[in-house]
Amino acid sequence: MEKLLMSSRNFSDLVWRQIYESSTYKLLEKKDPFFKIMSALDNLRVSADYNTGSIPSASAWGLYATTCLFKPCNIIEIGTFIGRSSIAMALGMADSGIKEGEVHTCDFSNDIKLPSIENASIIQYPMQSSTMMLEKIVAANPDGKKFDMVHFDGRLQKSDYDLLNGLRSPDMIFALDDFEGMEKGVINYINMKKTKLLDSYQLVLPPSPLLLRDFDFHDSSSTALLVPNSSFLLPG
Ligand SMILES: C[S@@+](CC[C@H](N)C(=O)[O-])C[C@H]1O[C@@H](n2cnc3c(N)ncnc32)[C@H](O)[C@@H]1O
Repeated sequence: MEKLLMSSRNFSDLVWRQIYESSTYKLLEKKDPFFKIMSALDNLRVSADYNTGSIPSASAWGLYATTCLFKPCNIIEIGTFIGRSSIAMALGMADSGIKEGEVHTCDFSNDIKLPSIENASIIQYPMQSSTMMLEKIVAANPDGKKFDMVHFDGRLQKSDYDLLNGLRSPDMIFALDDFEGMEKGVINYINMKKTKLLDSYQLVLPPSPLLLRDFDFHDSSSTALLVPNSSFLLPG
């Protein structure tokens, strides 16, 4: 018998369609206030030591929607900068009813204080590397609290993999920014594949521009996801 072979592109857009659809219809009234907050964050650039790129609107809503759908309680992020991604995920947790959600986020070249979000905490590690942040989280975590989502918008360091492995829940969702060409998202993915972190995971490529247009996003997104097989349910 032949198998039903689904291409990575079709599979990825199927997953993203479900993610964007779930938030667009359920959380439509949240969209305007969400993007007002996102625009205001651009004003923080003046206080940057290292003024660099931030995520586009399609990625910000994609992260928000991913958080709303999977409902992680504890998130780790590499690459805070002006906080569009940190705030998008914190709002996703708060708006989906997660109580006392936490986003831990580091940036080794910036010290930009982010605004606070009601019902979610953003714990910043300014001027600190990912390894420094992960070591601090481990040291302050005697009860072995697990993290169920990460967003990498910086380059993982060699020492990060073991630390991450110790902090992850078995169904951790990975979101990787800059997943194109040989940019950092792809490099992080290649390096993670060499570890045990991604056994039993599906790669979800960034959403295609055509799909984004269906949800009224006219910029692009380079956010890829790694979703554990256990998070997929087939009908029937
Ligand atoms: C592209 S910016 C992040 C943009 C941010 N996510 C946003 O939405 O505004 C990446 C930042 O991460 C920092 N960075 C890169 N690798 C890092 C690492 N391993 N540890 C800490 N910071 C890192 C860079 O210096 C830079 O300031």
